Amino acid sequence: MKLFLDTANLKDIQKYAEWGLVDGVTTNPSLIAKEGVSFEKRIKDITKAVKGPVSTEVISTEWKGMVSEGKKYAKWAKNIYVKCPMTPDGLIATQKLSKAGIRVNVTLVFSAAQALLAAKAGAAFVSPFIGRIDDMGQDGMELIEEITAIYANYNFKTEILVASVRVPRQVSEAAMLGADICTVPPAIYEKLVKHPLTDQGLEKFLKDWKKAKQ
Ligand code: E4P
Repeated sequence: MKLFLDTANLKDIQKYAEWGLVDGVTTNPSLIAKEGVSFEKRIKDITKAVKGPVSTEVISTEWKGMVSEGKKYAKWAKNIYVKCPMTPDGLIATQKLSKAGIRVNVTLVFSAAQALLAAKAGAAFVSPFIGRIDDMGQDGMELIEEITAIYANYNFKTEILVASVRVPRQVSEAAMLGADICTVPPAIYEKLVKHPLTDQGLEKFLKDWKKAKQ
C-alpha cells in the first residue's frame, strides 16, 4: 500500500520525505488556506519535494471551470493529479480531463455508489473520507470493503485512496483490506513509527550495553 501525506505544509513534507517512505501528497483547499501562502508556488514546491502524485483540488463548481483549472494545474508539474469533487459537474470534468490524459482524484466520496461512478468516469484515484463517516457514528472502513469488492468485480483500474484518517489503526486496517493508498496527516505519520515497547526495549538494550562495557 502506498502512503501519502495529507498536508500542504512544506516543512512536514520535506521532513517525512527524508524517511524515504512518502509516496505522494494530498492537499485540499482547507489545507492550503491554513498555510497562508501562494497556492501555485506551494503546489510547485510540493511537486519538487516528492516524486509521487500530488493531488491539487479545483475550486470551480461547474465542469467547464473545473476542466480549465485542471488543465492549468497539470502544466505546473508532471506529478499533478487534479482533485474533482463528487458532483455531477465533477464527474463530467473527470471524464473530460481523463480523456485529455490528465489524472483525476475524485474527492469527497462517502458511498460505494459514488465510488462506482468515479471509476466509470475514469478517475485515477477515488478518495473515500472514512474519518468523516466515523464522525457520524458509522463505520468508514466498511465503505473501503465495499469499494474494494466492487472494483475487483469489474476490474476497475481506479486506485482506492483511503482519506480522512484519524488514527494509526485505520492505516493497518486499510492495508488489510487491500486499499491501494492511504493518506495521513503528519501527526499520524509520526505515530505510525511509535510504540512504547519499542522505546522501552531500546532504552533497556542501551542500558545493558553500557553496563557490560564498564
Ligand atoms: C484527502 O484528500 C483529504 O484532504 C483529507 O483526508 C480530509 O481529511 P479530514 O476529514 O481530516 O479533513
